Amino acid sequence: MNETPSVGIHDMSFATTHYVLDLDELARHHNVNPAKYHVGLGQDAMSVPAPDEDIVTMAATAAAPILQRHGTDHLRTVLIATETGIDQAKAAALYLHPLLGLPSTTRVVELKQACYAGTAAVQMAAGLIARDPNQQVLVIASDIAHYQLDTPAEATQGAGAVALLVSADPAIARLDPVCGLYSADVMDFWRPNYRTTPIVDGHYSITSYLAAAAQAWRDYSGRGGRDLSEFASFCYHQPFTTMAFKAHHHLMCSAGITPDPTAIHAALRYTTDYNRVIGNSYTASLYLALTSLLDHAGDLTDAPIGLLSYGSGAVAEFFSVTVVPGYREHLRTTATSQAISSRKPIDYDDYRALHDTHLPTDGGRHVLDEHTTGGFRLAGVTNHIRVYETC
Ligand code: COA
Repeated sequence: MNETPSVGIHDMSFATTHYVLDLDELARHHNVNPAKYHVGLGQDAMSVPAPDEDIVTMAATAAAPILQRHGTDHLRTVLIATETGIDQAKAAALYLHPLLGLPSTTRVVELKQACYAGTAAVQMAAGLIARDPNQQVLVIASDIAHYQLDTPAEATQGAGAVALLVSADPAIARLDPVCGLYSADVMDFWRPNYRTTPIVDGHYSITSYLAAAAQAWRDYSGRGGRDLSEFASFCYHQPFTTMAFKAHHHLMCSAGITPDPTAIHAALRYTTDYNRVIGNSYTASLYLALTSLLDHAGDLTDAPIGLLSYGSGAVAEFFSVTVVPGYREHLRTTATSQAISSRKPIDYDDYRALHDTHLPTDGGRHVLDEHTTGGFRLAGVTNHIRVYETC
């Protein structure tokens, strides 16, 4: 009998926006003690998209280095996970075809379930590869967290994209077979089609996240998963980084372990560095936590990492990856820190102006000014068609 090949993350790459707002600037104008953001939420800055950036430009910027390294010969599927959809019908990833030279012999789909959909895409990719280990799947989680101005959620905005190449015999991390699932109809966060910002019951979303995490863990344990003590580290979905600490505390209690701050710190150390300065990137946030861990921790070869994915509404999944030997040679640590450090700081007035910028909807021809230097840009909109270009 043929042995089932391992499947997992073969390459991963991150992109974010052209602009950044320091949360001290937000705190000053909102008359809020900055410690609420830095300590209470665990956030220092937020990525802010330029008018010529969106989930497609971030997705293209994240995916391009992966395609440069691996080519497209084995690429059969492109899955884009987002809750910042630019169209009600067409998958955002189809716009990547001319930008990235994607082969026409690919299936291309957009997945949605709030911040969870990236994990759904990864699991679907694993299923496809189990059926045909010769094929590779490009998963891109790309999102812009855009809340109503002057609301408590405003400080948790952010934007980013993580592209993952999922394949057999992965170079970075193997997906372990056991996963724990939980879903329930919860109205903690949603965005009706007619709104540009979500409706969110922030405190309810925190308790919903914690409850769903505990249930997913219970399912995981019941299916023969690892003991909590076996994991070298834990990556959580991070709408703001202190949420990861709340979630791990809750998971320890659920597992019957007395939570100890030192153990929690050790378990999450290195997983929050990027999200602290990017803000919420919804579907990308969990995979940015994993990127941060791999980039900053010491040698994790053969270490099992627990991952908790949560999407309001709500779906949670606890699963794990095992880091493979030689993974460090495949990381893109320098490119990620450059994407973060090269963002252009903006002041509060510019941030407010950008927040209120919306594409015209009249079907006319509109050309957008050049802002981004990210490699791909939204050049304008004509006849209701978004026009992208390489820059
Ligand atoms: N110094 C240190 N910490 C401070 C502080 C200060 N001066 N002022 C407040 N804090 C702490 C609070 O104690 C709280 O921490 P705790 O939850 O551990 O007690 C934290 O900062 C946030 O303060 P809080 O008053 O709860 O904030 P808020 O009600 O204004 O909004 C959210 C917080 C998360 C509800 C809001 O940002 C939101 O709605 N976000 C979007 C939804 C979301 O991210 N949900 C997460 C699950 S998906």
